[in-house]
Amino acid sequence: MFSARVPRDLSVNRLSAAAAALRARGAAIVDLTESNPTRAGFVYPPDLLAPLGDPRGLRYEPHPCGLAAARAAISAEYARRDLPVSPDRIVLTASTSEAYGLIFKLLADPGDDVLVPRPSYPLFEHLTRFDALNARTYDLEHHGAWRIDMAGLERAWSPRTRAVLLVSPNNPTGSFVTQAELDRLAALCADRGAALVVDEVFADYVLDAGAAAAAGRVLERSDVLAFALGGLSKSAGLPQVKLGWIAIGGPAGAARAAIERLEFLADGYLSVSTPVQAAAADLLASGAAVRAQIARRVGDNHHRLLARAARVPACRVLRVEGGWSAVLRVPALAAEEDLVLDLLERDRVLAHPGYFFDFPHECYLVVSLLTAEPAFAAGVDRILRRFERLETT
Ligand SMILES: Cc1ncc(COP(=O)(O)O)c(C=O)c1O
Repeated sequence: MFSARVPRDLSVNRLSAAAAALRARGAAIVDLTESNPTRAGFVYPPDLLAPLGDPRGLRYEPHPCGLAAARAAISAEYARRDLPVSPDRIVLTASTSEAYGLIFKLLADPGDDVLVPRPSYPLFEHLTRFDALNARTYDLEHHGAWRIDMAGLERAWSPRTRAVLLVSPNNPTGSFVTQAELDRLAALCADRGAALVVDEVFADYVLDAGAAAAAGRVLERSDVLAFALGGLSKSAGLPQVKLGWIAIGGPAGAARAAIERLEFLADGYLSVSTPVQAAAADLLASGAAVRAQIARRVGDNHHRLLARAARVPACRVLRVEGGWSAVLRVPALAAEEDLVLDLLERDRVLAHPGYFFDFPHECYLVVSLLTAEPAFAAGVDRILRRFERLETT
């Protein structure tokens, strides 16, 4: 009766079930998987959302791509990052997830393929399936830094490949796409009639300034049709406000044709509320204070993690260039799932196993750098304690 877009099995995984059971019993858990900034102890100015009550929100005169003032405010956000993006190359969405849905509908028919990175954001599996697309993976390989396996990416390419998805910096590896990688991907896409989709939601959170400066910037390109995604969720720590955007780059003719079609699709939903659009400029301006707090927390926790892990030779923090998470490689003494369940049951610390993000082998733990002190340090110590007596990986 139901479509295959929704998984047959909707039961929660063992780790979430175990965490929920412990919480129901009132157990205190150090949560190193927290990715919701509104639960992570940041100070949000109490009047931050006051602009949502602006009387401009009382008038309904929708534009499918978004109100001019809101698009201009997002264009100014790009200017902050030294990227000139005209407001008429911006389309508003309610979230980045919705942005993926619009782009998939724009570019691909049911049964077509899109290439997605691995390890990466687990939602890709579902978002592609919602639009009846096949997600074919290409690997990021860790050689001191994460790099795209270009030969593997070309092998994954099929005649039905319509787009290559990138996340930069990536969740959870924290790696930026390099200029050389972007050059290669742009050439492949332009040559084969595919588009580049670059999720930049974490672009404001830089942990390695050199890597960020050397990163490829998709919106500077004119050789390939490209879509860059952003949103208030991460850039202002406001996932509940529901404002995301797509910036369209590339050759003028292709970009114009894409925007006309996105406008048609967005007109079918008109999902971005008028109050949030009227408030966008103010929210972006005052959200900067939240962004600064998040950036400080993520940077401090990254240093804490490096300092603590340096005392445990068997564990290694993989290089993080940006974003909100870090990857810890630990000895494969047990299966990842058994390790994370045991850490939860015995040490009351919750971390993500690498397989959640499709790491190619074990044993990796992914920790969120958002978790507040002193819980972050306590949680990391509880993990590292397990491996203290081991000499090497
Ligand atoms: C890489 C990436 N893109 C997008 C999102 C979701 O953003 P939004 O709340 O705008 O849908 C997340 C959330 O964690 C993410 O990790």
